[in-house]
Amino acid sequence: MCGIVGYVGSREAAPILVEGLTRLEYRGYDSAGVAVLNGRGVETRKVAGRITALGELLTRTPVHGACGIGHTRWATHGAPSERNAHPHVDCTGTVALVHNGIIENAEILRARLERAGHRFATETDTETLAHLIEDAPGATFEERVIAGLAPVEGTYGLAVISEADPGKIVVARRGSPLLIGVGAGEYLVASDANAVLQRTRSVVYLNDGDIAVLTPLGYRVLDRAARVQDRAVDDIEWDLETLALGHYPHFMLKEICEQPDSVRATLRGRLLPDEGTARLDGLNLPPARCARVQRIVILGCGTSWHAGLVGRRKPLRLPGTLTVAISQSGETADTLEALRAAKAAGSTVIGIVNVVGSTIAREADGGIYLHAGPEIGVASTKAFTSQLVALLLFALYLGRQRGLALAAGRTLVRELERLPDLVARTLELEPAVRALAERYGDARNALYLGRGVNFPVALEGALKLKEISYVHAEGYPAAEMKHGPIALIDDNTPVVFVAPKDPVYAKVVSNMQEVKARGGRVVAITSEGNGDLRRLADHQLSVPATLPLLSPVLTVIPLQLLAYHIAVLRGCRSSRSCGSRRPTTTSASAPGRTRSRPPP
Ligand code: BG6
Repeated sequence: MCGIVGYVGSREAAPILVEGLTRLEYRGYDSAGVAVLNGRGVETRKVAGRITALGELLTRTPVHGACGIGHTRWATHGAPSERNAHPHVDCTGTVALVHNGIIENAEILRARLERAGHRFATETDTETLAHLIEDAPGATFEERVIAGLAPVEGTYGLAVISEADPGKIVVARRGSPLLIGVGAGEYLVASDANAVLQRTRSVVYLNDGDIAVLTPLGYRVLDRAARVQDRAVDDIEWDLETLALGHYPHFMLKEICEQPDSVRATLRGRLLPDEGTARLDGLNLPPARCARVQRIVILGCGTSWHAGLVGRRKPLRLPGTLTVAISQSGETADTLEALRAAKAAGSTVIGIVNVVGSTIAREADGGIYLHAGPEIGVASTKAFTSQLVALLLFALYLGRQRGLALAAGRTLVRELERLPDLVARTLELEPAVRALAERYGDARNALYLGRGVNFPVALEGALKLKEISYVHAEGYPAAEMKHGPIALIDDNTPVVFVAPKDPVYAKVVSNMQEVKARGGRVVAITSEGNGDLRRLADHQLSVPATLPLLSPVLTVIPLQLLAYHIAVLRGCRSSRSCGSRRPTTTSASAPGRTRSRPPP
């Protein structure tokens, strides 16, 4: 997803914009730019490529002024190029704007504007907005922005400046996240809290439909009829230090290694050992409501979907549905849409979300925050294990309300208390995983197999490898392997079995036999103390033994490390460009992809 930052105050805007854009680099981008009101008019600087190049351009040809907007673009309409980079201007060059999202009726609007005499300089859908605002009626700049947006279909997070109204940024949100950073005599706008952290930790999260006006004297949030709206000021949970790479070469490895702490943070203050249950204050699901729940629907995309698959139990075909939306960012468009549909159908919605104050967190009726800290690597790692822990806490809480025995609850609580230490011990497998990566780093295919709660772990292991190493990998239910994927097996295709000692272990072992019978290479992720596989597995990685339900929190860790090390060995250091998987930029954010989202 593209990134937005804007600044208005008393300092030079350009360095603050570049710093903010640097904090958004992890989302992936192909070009970047800024526009600043310099006292005479709008001045823009744009580059195709890295933000460092934008910084260098600004050093050679500085722009001065205390009000400006900046953008990192991940192309959707029009090729990645300097010309198509934001900010975009109207025909007069006096209105400049940056935009995240997609204008769905851009073609129609463009044709209409061209017939009315507007000249377009780019291939983007965004430029349409600048021309619409140019023609829009209104007594104030914000009224013109509101009127300009009226015919627009699609999604936007938007920041606009105008020569006619210097010292003012007008922003608008529909379907793309935006927040205001509240500083002392200065205000920022950004698509992501990380971009304002350099100046402030106080933020106002905008709702869909909000318009906001920022000046050095303050900010106002308006609705479409320009009526002032009340919005709370929140604190960002993390600080600049937590966003630093420290001694790690990549954020992905940093985040994998943070898992003992992130799992501990998800559990902190939530376990009640005597009562054998969990305390989940934000859930908003009192005992009487728990008793009425007949069916649970879990929503999520990518890794969060895999977490949901682990959390899923056999569905009951009954009314009284509770919907659980799982999302690290709390902004994934598809999850949000499904959440809204569930709410509209009358379902209570619970959010399991990492980013405090995100849209899903705000629109859910209650929820469980992960408190896993910022996740910069696009390939989700520590958020996944914290999602699993949050789902276990939720199951424990609900279970105890609905007849789970005290003794069973206490057993689960005791094991959950041990979990951060077990995660730390699992990370000790890293040298062995690195050696495995060296052995299979040039494999062209990989199969990941598992059963029961470890089938989604197999899916997740395959997803991690595909996502950051560009190696074809398939996750499959172990029992299904013989119905097709078995044809892929050869002596350079690692077949990774997620096989902790649990009730389905014996069945997984018989699937391993089938692979061995065809000359395949078996990598077994199993439990410590398991000597059974010595002759069957070519490679064995043993995670600490735990309850079967908790095992995915541990078994996934060697798979995260394997994907990471294979990506590093293969030299994958690219980010996903918008609309194409072709790498266009490099970054230290992750060995493979930097964090970027499909366009909303
Ligand atoms: C994808 C990421 O773009 O979005 C995945 O590559 C992530 O890692 C997925 O799991 C869903 O994101 P979220 O924030 O809703 O958990």
